[in-house]
Amino acid sequence: MIKNIVVVASGKGGVGKSTISVNLATSLSKKNYNIGLLDADIYGPSIPKMLGIQGKPKVSKSKKILPYISFGLKSMSIGNMIPQDGSVIWRGAMASNAIRQLINDVEWGDLDYLFIDLPPGTGDIQLSLCQSFSIAGAVIVSTPQEISLLDVRKAINMFNKVNVEIVGMIQNMSYFENEGDKNYIFGKDGVKNESKKLNHNFLGEVPILEEISSSCDLGKPACFTNEKIYQNIFEKISDNFISSFSKIKKKEVNIES
Ligand SMILES: Nc1ncnc2c1ncn2[C@@H]1O[C@H](COP(=O)(O)OP(=O)(O)OP(=O)(O)O)[C@@H](O)[C@H]1O
Ligand SMILES: [Mg+2]
Repeated sequence: MIKNIVVVASGKGGVGKSTISVNLATSLSKKNYNIGLLDADIYGPSIPKMLGIQGKPKVSKSKKILPYISFGLKSMSIGNMIPQDGSVIWRGAMASNAIRQLINDVEWGDLDYLFIDLPPGTGDIQLSLCQSFSIAGAVIVSTPQEISLLDVRKAINMFNKVNVEIVGMIQNMSYFENEGDKNYIFGKDGVKNESKKLNHNFLGEVPILEEISSSCDLGKPACFTNEKIYQNIFEKISDNFISSFSKIKKKEVNIES
């Protein structure tokens, strides 16, 4: 049974949702939680690449799709169903159906958390997902710059409308450190300040690190391969996630697999 579905969202594209999803999920699985990660980015799936997963998924005797298992995580992506360089041209309703199927028809088994890496925006896919399933909470990822925060506000408004609680906000690409000097390339503390303003929990910040980006390209999550990145950054963020999640109103979902 999936105990909790949590979406990872931003509103804006390219701010690091998938990178944070993979590392948050890996950190929690390192803490012995049962974690699933579903890539719902129909138009630009990146989780298979980030987890080094290839090939079509296998099907169980009971005709359910078997999730991939790597780095202690169960995962599935629409990206595993299509050729890596194939583009998907689907209408919103078809895309929403495909995601619903990936939640219902994958043999997830017992999960404490199923994280769903959402595509950017606040369109049909996001709405239909929130309306079809009981989503326990949303983690908002953003860079500190105002142009990203504009879209974050839209995303939070959408979640408020469909009664999805905000677990907290994560500030990605906070700064770039060069010889001990922190350079705030996208401005300082934009997400931190916004979380205070909106009265949401701030789960932590992630600096710009070459190792975070290269680990994604190599298909090996930084949290799994780089103990320093795990201990200094994502261990705290995942602890904050757990404590913040326990405070928000808990919604049970009942998806047996
Ligand atoms: N903290 C970081 N340090 C270094 N590189 C990062 C960091 N976060 C993300 N990146 C890089 O930025 C790029 C965009 O990240 P990612 O794909 O996770 O964003 P996204 O929000 O999921 O994008 P999309 O909206 O297209 O799904 C990737 O190349 C990734 O490796
Ligand atoms: Mg992404």
